[in-house]
Amino acid sequence: MRKILLAGNWKMNKLARDLQPFAEGMSSTLEKLENVVIGKRPEVAIAVAAPLFYPWQELVKKARLPITIAAQNMHWAESGAFTGEISAGMLKEVGITMTLIGHSERRQYFGETDETVAKRTQTALAQGLVPVVCIGETLQEREAGKTEEVVERQLRAVTKVCPDLGSTIVAYEPVWAIGTGKSATTAQAQEVHAFIRKLLVDLLGKAKAETVRILYGGSASPANIRELLLQPDIDGGLIGGASLKPEDFSKMLLDAIDVVSIKK
Ligand code: PGA
Repeated sequence: MRKILLAGNWKMNKLARDLQPFAEGMSSTLEKLENVVIGKRPEVAIAVAAPLFYPWQELVKKARLPITIAAQNMHWAESGAFTGEISAGMLKEVGITMTLIGHSERRQYFGETDETVAKRTQTALAQGLVPVVCIGETLQEREAGKTEEVVERQLRAVTKVCPDLGSTIVAYEPVWAIGTGKSATTAQAQEVHAFIRKLLVDLLGKAKAETVRILYGGSASPANIRELLLQPDIDGGLIGGASLKPEDFSKMLLDAIDVVSIKK
């Protein structure tokens, strides 16, 4: 079984002073992770805005919290005239090991394209960072029956420049489900995840494709995470709104811990 990853995406939310209360709200659930055998233990990550990297890393180290602090974006160049961007070297300097790439909000509001997503992923891998590459269709594309075509195009753009995907994690996030409270049903999500898995088999071979984690994102919550995680091709969640509340995120982590004992 692939290890479950629950990745929070805080987007442009929270200040440094919110970290301690959040950590306290999660701590008893995080402790429960120790009861799970290491090889199956769910992983927890939280993608935060850059000013929170340093205070979060300090807190995580001091309190020995099993949380990976991740970035929400990363530029492909080593350095240069790219105002507002962050390089892999800068992330590594503050202990960041994972980054979201190509979130739909980046694609929608900041002109991210399949090509720039591929370039960012390529640099992340070359620099030893774990990229969480986000793909997913809009409502218009789904209604036009183009879901598979869109996710295939988005994924192929990445494998074109990163042929074996390395440590890449894929996050399937239907755009119409993000922040809308209107999650994909478990059946809808599993259907697309199975399609992505099959595509990965074609692109990378069966052995490698079986190791790639595919997260679901889009209004994942305590109400639906358990059913989602029980699906054969759903290996975790990329969680926006519900990751802002420690009580919700904790409940989701408890479900993840529970699912480990059931899922093959
Ligand atoms: P949501 O966001 O869980 O609030 O829908 C998910 C995401 O944008 O990654």
